[in-house]
Amino acid sequence: MINVIGLGYIGLPTALMFAASGNKIIGTDIDDKRVRGLQEGVIPFEEKGMTDLYDKAVKNDIQFSNEYHETDMYIITVPTPYDSYSKKIDPTYIQEAVKTVLEVALDNSTIVVESTVSPGTIDKYVRPIIEHGEEEKGMTFNLVHAPERILPGNMVHELRYNSRTIGTDSVEAGEKVKEVYETFCESEIVVTDIRTAEMSKVVENTYRDINIAFANELAKIAHFDDLNVHEIIRIANKHPRVNILNPGPGVGGHCISVDPWFLVGDYPELTGLIKKSREINDSMPNFALKRIREVMDETGITDISKVGLYGLTYKANVDDIRESPTLQLLEQQRLHLAPELKVYDPEVRRFDITEE
Ligand SMILES: NC(=O)c1ccc[n+]([C@@H]2O[C@H](COP(=O)([O-])OP(=O)(O)OC[C@H]3O[C@@H](n4cnc5c(N)ncnc54)[C@H](O)[C@@H]3O)[C@@H](O)[C@H]2O)c1
Repeated sequence: MINVIGLGYIGLPTALMFAASGNKIIGTDIDDKRVRGLQEGVIPFEEKGMTDLYDKAVKNDIQFSNEYHETDMYIITVPTPYDSYSKKIDPTYIQEAVKTVLEVALDNSTIVVESTVSPGTIDKYVRPIIEHGEEEKGMTFNLVHAPERILPGNMVHELRYNSRTIGTDSVEAGEKVKEVYETFCESEIVVTDIRTAEMSKVVENTYRDINIAFANELAKIAHFDDLNVHEIIRIANKHPRVNILNPGPGVGGHCISVDPWFLVGDYPELTGLIKKSREINDSMPNFALKRIREVMDETGITDISKVGLYGLTYKANVDDIRESPTLQLLEQQRLHLAPELKVYDPEVRRFDITEE
């Protein structure tokens, strides 16, 4: 039996996929409302293919609980936020989850951390807890880091077809975990060491952030010199080894806009490019707002009393508003556009605007 800990955007589809593929699964979350909802058939967020997956998982007897269960494999998918001042990871959610796992885990259990962590987090913050647990209980535990890279909006498909990484101390433990993921994963599963697995995950998201920042910087340069950035990118991309992304109003979500900060926090002297890219992407909502104002002025649109902001989520076809550039637009729009605001997004069921 596998106990999946944390039933959020990553943990829930993962638990359902494992169960739908024939594994005995208990999904655990500390959020009672979420657990009760799942027991009653309420899927807490929209995602293509989730309803089918849920039905298959329920047929295979998946259980949802707010308790941790005695078993020999745990998959931890709890949040890993970062401190907005120090830019360092906050490992407390993982630490709490691991401590609770150790209260119930059987001897020789495998504890897989799927949450994204900054390089070195497992050794610094998780391993000591496991070693302490081993000593206290006279047991051994296998520690594994298997970061997730699925794309919100296409999670169910990507769970099956993305390549995966398993970081482990021992090849034997890694192979055991690989076998379990192979019950649904149809792509390559690479077994490596824990620090390499940690770094490769954060590097993937940082790579995306830097490439988006390049496109955004080009947009600013082109605008400054009255050039069409899209035409420039279209032409440049005809070069066989050039593939520039599209500029946009910023970067959101819980991965690309967060993970590069882990590297900046840990290697402040070595991450000039990464830090600058984050800053460029974070500057885009304001840049977009100023451009809207400029276009309004140029075209004689003045004295508007109300602005409609359509689309709140950080990208199309997801209901996740975490770190969404639109939230920055929301905060700033009064300075640039109009005092009143109407916000609409068909994907977002509930949104609270706090008035100052
Ligand atoms: N969302 C993504 O697109 C994405 C993609 C790849 C990796 N990740 C990583 O996956 C991890 C989880 O992200 P998410 O988006 O699923 O987060 P989330 O906030 O959607 O879900 C986390 C869940 O964990 C639960 N939880 C917190 N502490 C717990 C505990 N001690 N025991 C049991 N449950 C607990 C919360 O109630 C919540 O339901 C993060 O490290 C994130 O960086 C996320």
